[in-house]
Parts: sequence; structure tokens; C-alpha cells
Amino acid sequence: MTTKSAKTIVLGVSGSIAAYKACEIASTLTKLGHNVVPVLTASAQKMVGPPTFEGLTGNRAIVDMFHPTQNAEMDHIAVAEEADLFLIAPATANILAKSAQGIADDWLTTALLVTTAPVLFAPAMNTHMYAHAAVQENIATLTARGCAFVGPGSGILACKSVGPGRMSEPEEVVAHVLSILQESDSLSGKQFLITSGANHEPIDPVRYIGNRSSGKMGHAIAQEALRRGAQVTVVTGPSEVDPPSGATVVQVQTALEMRDAVMEHLDGKHVVIGAAAVADYRIENPGETKLKRNGDGMDLKLVENPDIIAQVGREKSNGQLIIGFAAETHDLIKNAKAKLARKNLDLIVANQVGTEESGFGTETVHARFLDTSGDVEEHPLLKKTELAAKLMDRIESLLQNGQT
Ligand code: PMT
Repeated sequence: MTTKSAKTIVLGVSGSIAAYKACEIASTLTKLGHNVVPVLTASAQKMVGPPTFEGLTGNRAIVDMFHPTQNAEMDHIAVAEEADLFLIAPATANILAKSAQGIADDWLTTALLVTTAPVLFAPAMNTHMYAHAAVQENIATLTARGCAFVGPGSGILACKSVGPGRMSEPEEVVAHVLSILQESDSLSGKQFLITSGANHEPIDPVRYIGNRSSGKMGHAIAQEALRRGAQVTVVTGPSEVDPPSGATVVQVQTALEMRDAVMEHLDGKHVVIGAAAVADYRIENPGETKLKRNGDGMDLKLVENPDIIAQVGREKSNGQLIIGFAAETHDLIKNAKAKLARKNLDLIVANQVGTEESGFGTETVHARFLDTSGDVEEHPLLKKTELAAKLMDRIESLLQNGQT
């Protein structure tokens, strides 16, 4: 895999004795060609001075909300929006708590509420602190929101306690950063067509029937394919999150519009992935004007929408890879196997839906991959971005083996 371009990494340093390790991290990432923006909390400045980081990164260290940075627009909004990754190393119990609770009382915590970039924490604290329920709850909250963690390791800490709490070594933290940022060209030349998001099926010009899909899963898949050099077309229904920049985006509302857009863009695509929650039904005769209440309720006749991925499966051209999702609340494997066969798919992602941690609108998902050989590839609860990476790994091996 090759790294395609320099990235902007905000290195947040909080007040742990392990702050000295952040110097090595800053130096290594800078030598790799990345733009490292050091941010020191007030307590971190008592451990390591800003000039050290400025010398290592070539960037002025940001030390407080009102500190004049290199130029006026390099404020916490601009930096947070430009960042490709936020690394908080070391991450004290305090910064974890403030981040989990949405407290914004300094530059770093404010920027953490602005950024949409991946966030990686490297915890460092006394063993007993790390084991405390409050700290563990904050870590669980941040994980559920899609943040990543590296470490802590176990060992003898500066406070002489022994056990977990020791910040991971710089090389381990750097490796984790690169794995999150890593771009490759493993899918260059491949064209993807991905459906994502929900549908709105009109009842009348004011009302519609929809579903709870947020688009997070489909857009994470599109983002991962782009990171690996693929050309990506996303046909997306209404969604809570924006599709990734760099993709060709076709915005639709209804299942019929989604089907038409998919068939229009299908030609030449190597991989088609149906991640959208496509409406199975539409109202047969939606009102042309707002339907008035008349005291007798409202009867709606629903008719079936076309099965888009099944139509793609029927018409798939030689070598094309067709992948679907099965959104199941029960009998996950049985139902997914049936859809894999019925829709003539090469792979189906069987994902549990309807729980707080997996399904529509969640940051995480519990899924398994089922292929036509009957194999089931198990995955633990993962962030949707992590599952997208696992799916892309599987797609790469299917493409390489020509198993389509
Ligand atoms: O968007 P998020 O909030 O992140 O939620 C993600 C998700 C739960 C929506 C996603 O992971 C998911 O499971 N998408 C598929 C939802 C769905 O419609 O599942 P299904 O089992 O009903 O459909 C099976 C497959 O057929 C899917 O690939 C679906 O896109 C496709 N389908 C279904 C009906 C239809 N009329 N046309 C289709 O193409």
C-alpha cells in the first residue's frame, strides 16, 4: 500500500507525565511528511514547552483559545475543519471526561466538538484511575461515537502503580495513526456504484413514509473505497450525513428514482453495493394536494417497489461484483442466506438492526459477511468506518481472485 498524500494531524497533548512521548510522535509524523498541528492544554504546558513542539513540527503550538496563531483564519474552526485526524496523546482522564461530556473550555475541547475527522485517543493515567467506572464509561461513550483508542499498555507507571494505564509507545501510536489515515491505490481503476440512505415515499406534497436510515453505513463504504483509489458513484436517498467529497453523488427521494439512477449509472461498474434502506412499498395514489382530515382516518393503498439490487443481480455482467446488506432483527443468518440467493448476490453483509449499538443511525454495527460458498465471516461490534474497511478488504480479495 502506498501513502498518497500528506495529511493534517492535530496533535492534542494533555497534562500527563507521558507528554514527553508526544514529542517523538510529533517528530516521526512530521518526518513522514504530514502537517502536525500541536495543541497543548494548560496542564500539558507544565510538562513540555510549546517551543519543543514548534521546533519538531515547524508549526506554532496552539496553547489557548485566544492565542494568536500563524494567521487569523487558523483558528479552532478552520484547523478543526481542515484536520484529517485528531490525535490526543497522551489523553488524561480529564480530557476523556470533557470530550465525552461535550465540555468546551479550551482550544482542544472546543475543536473536538467542531471536527468531523477521525479522533484517536492514547490514554495515560494511574491504573486505579483507568479502572474507575467514570473513566470506563467515558471511554465507552467515546467509542460508541466512533472514536478510536490505542492502548493503554500495562507496566510500571511513573506513579509506581503497576497495571494498565501506561501510554502506548510512540511507534505504536504512530502505526495506529497511519492505519487510520493510510490511503492506498489498491482499488485504483475500479468503479463502484453504492446506494445509501433512506427513501421518502410521498403520501401527498406534505407527508411521506420514510425509514430510519441515516446514510452513515453507505457513506462510510463510499469513503473507504475512495481512500483506496476507487472511482465512486453514490446514489443516495435522504440522509443525516453528507456523502464523501470526491464521490459522484446522485441525490434521489423515492425507491423508483433510486432504481432509475442505479440502472442509469450501472454500466462499467466493477462493484455494486446496496447499502440503502430501500422502501419496499410506495403509496399507489399519492395526493396531488394535501389530503384533508375528514374525521374518518386515512386509508393508504401500498404497492410494492422494485427490488433494485435483485434487478442488478439478474442483469449482472461478467466479472461484476454485487453486494447487498441484510437488515435483520432476528434469524440473521437464515434470512441473509435467503436474500443472498434470491437476489443473486456475490456477498451479503448480514447486519443486526434495532439495537442501540447496531443498525439504523448508530455509529457502530454488528455484522457478518456471507458468501455463495456458505462461509460466514464473523465480525465483532465495529464502528461503521471499521466495517467499511473490512468489507473493502473482502472486496479486494474477491476482485483479485476473480471470484465473481
Ligand atoms: O444508514 P445507516 O443509518 O447507517 O443504517 C445502515 C443500514 C442499517 C441501513 C444498512 O447497514 C443496511 O442494512 N442497509 C440495507 C437495509 C435494507 O433495506 O435491508 P433489507 O434486508 O430490507 O434489503 C436487503 C438488500 O436489498 C439491501 O442491500 C437493500 O439495499 C436491497 N433492497 C431492498 C429492497 C428493495 N426494494 N431494493 C433493494 O435494493
